[in-house]
Amino acid sequence: MIISFVSSKGGVGKTTSLLVLATELERVGRSKGRRVTIIDADRNAPLVAWADMPGRPENIRVVGVPNTENLVDAIDEEQVNCDVLLLDLPGLADVGLANAIMLSDLVLVPLGGGGLEAAEAAKTIKLVRRQSRLTGREIPYRALMTRAPAGAVEPLSYRRNREQLADQGVPMIKHALLSSPAFQELPDGGNLERMLEDATDKRRRDQVTKAMDNAQAYYRDIIAALKELKNTKTEATE
Ligand SMILES: Nc1ncnc2c1ncn2[C@@H]1O[C@H](COP(=O)(O)OP(=O)(O)OP(=O)(O)O)[C@@H](O)[C@H]1O
Ligand SMILES: [Mg+2]
Repeated sequence: MIISFVSSKGGVGKTTSLLVLATELERVGRSKGRRVTIIDADRNAPLVAWADMPGRPENIRVVGVPNTENLVDAIDEEQVNCDVLLLDLPGLADVGLANAIMLSDLVLVPLGGGGLEAAEAAKTIKLVRRQSRLTGREIPYRALMTRAPAGAVEPLSYRRNREQLADQGVPMIKHALLSSPAFQELPDGGNLERMLEDATDKRRRDQVTKAMDNAQAYYRDIIAALKELKNTKTEATE
């Protein structure tokens, strides 16, 4: 099972939402020994750095592949040794990225409420659809709203982007990943469970608990999306 995070725009939340998914996959699948591997294809290798920190779950492995020319070989090599392979892909639209998209069972395209973000997501989705045509295989994808302010009412900027994509027939992950200091601190904090253990006051505990609830809803949406896919082995995430 290969899930990739792709966006031609930087800073939309690829790495953060991948890390939330990775830690949820590991947490939920811990009793079954689910193995999650992350390929970090960012030159700055933020996830390779995360993997070196104390508190990282043992069943999550991170492999740095800074050169997209090596992506396909790395994917081939890694996917046989894990249950779920997550790809943090660079925005650069090169052959390596196109190939990684072609190998994916699900492509997630994160976007926020920014003015250009729906257009950038649409551009990325166009690339996914093109790869589908080239391979003659439907490559499933979903747009994913990230960094959304928490609150009962969805901010107008998010609603606009959501509607713009819906008008283009783009399927979406139902729950947005909310903007939370707990998510922002994930690269330094290991995982949410550890952050909750380390919380020293109620405000912090509430903050992390809220992030955990959101992470679980987001995780369940992705599992539901995987179950909708035909011809895909979903046992890896069951
Ligand atoms: N759900 C969130 N809550 C709070 N902060 C977030 C969230 N998602 C992302 N951020 C913050 O937004 C910034 C960009 O996020 P991130 O690094 O995940 O994006 P990216 O798409 O991987 O960026 P790049 O293109 O540089 O790789 C970071 O500072 C991150 O901490
Ligand atoms: Mg990133």
